[in-house]
Amino acid sequence: MQDFLDTAIKAAQVAGALQRERLWLEHDIALKGESNLVTEVDMVCEEQIVGAIRNRYPGHDILAEEHDYVALHSSHKWIIDPLDGTTNYAHGFPWFGISIALEIDGGVRAGVIYHPMMDELFTAVKGEGAYLNGGRIHVSRRAPLNSSLLATGFPYDRRWDNENNFANFEKIQMAARAVRRAGAAALDLAYVAAGRLDGYWECKLKPWDVAAGVLLVEEAGGEVTNHGGDPYSIYDHRIVASNGLIHGEMIEVLKEQIEVRVEKQQNLNL
Ligand code: IPD
Ligand code: CA
Ligand code: CA
Repeated sequence: MQDFLDTAIKAAQVAGALQRERLWLEHDIALKGESNLVTEVDMVCEEQIVGAIRNRYPGHDILAEEHDYVALHSSHKWIIDPLDGTTNYAHGFPWFGISIALEIDGGVRAGVIYHPMMDELFTAVKGEGAYLNGGRIHVSRRAPLNSSLLATGFPYDRRWDNENNFANFEKIQMAARAVRRAGAAALDLAYVAAGRLDGYWECKLKPWDVAAGVLLVEEAGGEVTNHGGDPYSIYDHRIVASNGLIHGEMIEVLKEQIEVRVEKQQNLNL
């Protein structure tokens, strides 16, 4: 497992150095949807990371954000977000990172999140704890919800799909001490693992946004479920991650919103 982790760390650090160097230069920015941006740095970093992994493990599968890779049907799959927080990056807002995870036989076994501007490296191996720059990290012990600092995000299709997280945001913002929207899901999860945030929720994320972060939170002693409070898979689209102590209070709000949406849908179908 150490060799897998070292490969991911090296690749994340190389990509991170490039992201740091190029942050305030001019970028080639393209749109993947109405507000989903991609820059040349996302592309170059994905090429570099995938190249480094393929070089070492040519038989492993790759699932990464910017390209489709031919399936090799390996038991090992690398799940990569070469630049999480692209909107921030494209605007020169220095809050973004790299997320690399390794899934073996369907379970995430190792994860790395690198925050280049802070030179912070978050790592976890299943069953071996979570670390920040080599030192063990744990989730916070803060409770209840009204003393907690949380984070969330809003999906790119928020203007035309009403599952846009606005109602959840309003409710939780009223119930918590404060809610941040920093714009990089992987860093939000890493921060829950490090006890700098007490909880986080979002919807419509992709496996590359969450794979490494979920392992980090779990290995740091936290809890991760879907919005109904049921077990979470990185292929689900509604996530809640917390220190465990405020999880029930978060689920209460999020569950209520699922019920409101179901009721609205039923009324529309009448
Ligand atoms: C996005 C960020 C953002 C989250 C979006 C993600 P990207 O990833 O993690 O915080 O709200 O849903 O898609 O596109 O910058 O890699
Ligand atoms: Ca992402
Ligand atoms: Ca990305």
